[in-house]
Amino acid sequence: MKYTFFATAGRGLEDLVAKELQEMGIKDAKALRGGARFTGSLEDGYRATLWSRMASTILLSLSSFKADSNEAVYNGVRRIPWDEHLSLETTFAISTTSTRANLNTHFVSLKAKDAIVDQFRKATQERPNVDVENPDLAIQIHIDKDLTTVYLDLGNPGLHKRGYRVLSTDAPIRETVAASILVRGGWPELAKQGAAFMDPMCGSGTFVIEAAMMAADIAPGLGRVDLGFDRWKKHDQKAFSGLLQEAQERRDKGLETLGPIHGTDVAGPAIAAAKRNAEAAGLAHHVHLERVPLMNVRPPAPTGLVATNPPYGHRFEEDAAAVHYELGEALINEFIGWKAAIITGSKELGRELGMRAIKTFNVDNGPLRCIQINFDIQPERIFHERR
Ligand SMILES: C[S@@+](CC[C@H](N)C(=O)[O-])C[C@H]1O[C@@H](n2cnc3c(N)ncnc32)[C@H](O)[C@@H]1O
Repeated sequence: MKYTFFATAGRGLEDLVAKELQEMGIKDAKALRGGARFTGSLEDGYRATLWSRMASTILLSLSSFKADSNEAVYNGVRRIPWDEHLSLETTFAISTTSTRANLNTHFVSLKAKDAIVDQFRKATQERPNVDVENPDLAIQIHIDKDLTTVYLDLGNPGLHKRGYRVLSTDAPIRETVAASILVRGGWPELAKQGAAFMDPMCGSGTFVIEAAMMAADIAPGLGRVDLGFDRWKKHDQKAFSGLLQEAQERRDKGLETLGPIHGTDVAGPAIAAAKRNAEAAGLAHHVHLERVPLMNVRPPAPTGLVATNPPYGHRFEEDAAAVHYELGEALINEFIGWKAAIITGSKELGRELGMRAIKTFNVDNGPLRCIQINFDIQPERIFHERR
């Protein structure tokens, strides 16, 4: 059976997600606003939930219909044979998003819920329950103009929940965003050559873990605890088990050739959290995490990639500038020959690093609009007048 899927993506990540899906063998993946659409078997959809590092979730389309009122949405949702998807014991939740439409998304969700409940009641006099916090099945409705699409969310509660974030520190970066920064920083190509990786302000270790998973060919979804589809009536456990087994074999092989992956931070609790998270990711013996202040950081190899997320809190602009200056000093003094991908809050803070960028990208980091700045750390790219 051929399904239509939509891989949702953060703003600006649509092309990266489409390319990532194509590299997985999903040839017709096409970037659209908000994500990438693709068609394929259920196994293709599962593969995307297991291997996409940058998609927010993978939606499986159940039905699409024209609807310009809440009643029309109700009728369209009611036409879906829900007993093929859930039983009376299955809990569900519905959320709705819209673009270019006038319908109130909250009311649409309520109407859609009524449609499902009424369909079950009519057939059985009973109804399945709603669980907004932790549903067995998450249903997403998207309305674009007058076209309503009802999806099953295969990646609920979100593909960024890889299962390794046991402890957090201040302002951890979202896993999917960290992965996109590594991709744009050229890490997949460098990692294939066995290059070294360093995050000298690693906090809870997100970049370190994501970089190690990419380099060791570890599926980001391998450690996910909650799956969006294991209580779905059409779930194909055999297909999913096959994918899991393949991912385990690729991980075991990938870990054999992993290059040096290091994370350091000045704060003890940050390193404790990073170690705990690396352990949860099965990487405790494969990455090096140590409490070291920036000025004492030394590269683990002659070349590699630095990816980091220095503090850029808006309330402490001056402190943030000083930390950026210090990071620039550390990179210029010790990391000549390396590349760097740094996410920061503004161009002004980026200038404090003291090097000319080779490329910049806009990045949404939660509610903050940030920039990623890529550097080749070479003597000719340093602003000598500022040093
Ligand atoms: C925004 S957080 C990084 C969050 C991290 N990317 C994560 O996902 O958890 C910035 C980190 O920089 C560290 N830091 C600040 N000043 C530092 C310094 N001088 N040397 C080393 N680390 C420093 C902080 O302890 C904090 O963990």
